Amino acid sequence: MEMRVQRRSRLLLLLVLLLCGGCPQAGGCNETGMLERLPLCGKVFANMMRKVDVWKWCNLSEFIVYYESFTNCTEVEANIVGCFWPNPLAQGFITGIHRQFFYNCTLNRVRWQDPPDEILIPLIAVPLVLTVAMTGLVVWRSKRTDTLLCGN
Ligand SMILES: *[C@@H]1O[C@H](CO)[C@@H](O)[C@H](O)[C@H]1NC(C)=O
Ligand SMILES: *[C@@H]1O[C@H](CO)[C@@H](O)[C@H](O)[C@H]1NC(C)=O
Ligand SMILES: *[C@@H]1O[C@H](CO)[C@@H](O)[C@H](O)[C@H]1NC(C)=O
Ligand SMILES: *[C@@H]1O[C@H](CO)[C@@H](O)[C@H](O)[C@H]1NC(C)=O
Repeated sequence: MEMRVQRRSRLLLLLVLLLCGGCPQAGGCNETGMLERLPLCGKVFANMMRKVDVWKWCNLSEFIVYYESFTNCTEVEANIVGCFWPNPLAQGFITGIHRQFFYNCTLNRVRWQDPPDEILIPLIAVPLVLTVAMTGLVVWRSKRTDTLLCGN
């Protein structure tokens, strides 16, 4: 009985190792590669924002389309190099972009009152959800690394 349990756990370990070897992408997020790719998304977004008058930068309805394609771009690029999205590094990059373009918007409340709520709420909610998701992801990943023995 004990032998069988032991053999089974060894089999399980072997299976896990084989699975990990067969799927480097799932556990292997190339962070260097991601950090190289994300600025391209930022560049495209900056170019689009340049077409919007600076005094309209806090008017969400003016740039929401660009913002959505920017977010999508970071997701696509992160996935290409085997990274989950969102992840802390990508979030740090997105926060940097926010600081670059929308830094004065939070101070200037007057203009924020204008966009309709259904647009404003997601903008406030997304960073919140990201933060919560990030915390979950980190916990999940560290647990996964413990059990699977093949985190990077
Ligand atoms: C990660 O990305 C960098 C930059 O693109 C590349 O030089 C490196 O070979 C990649 N590493 C792996 C393990 O794929
Ligand atoms: C924001 O942009 C939208 C769409 O261009 C426009 O209808 C609205 O009047 C603008 N609001 C402000 C405060 O500029
Ligand atoms: C994100 O971008 C990719 C590639 O450009 C595209 O195929 C996909 O439909 C986009 N997704 C969304 C939600 O816009
Ligand atoms: C924010 O305001 C400061 C001071 O007016 C200005 O120097 C800076 O360029 C502004 N930043 C953005 C992103 O609008």
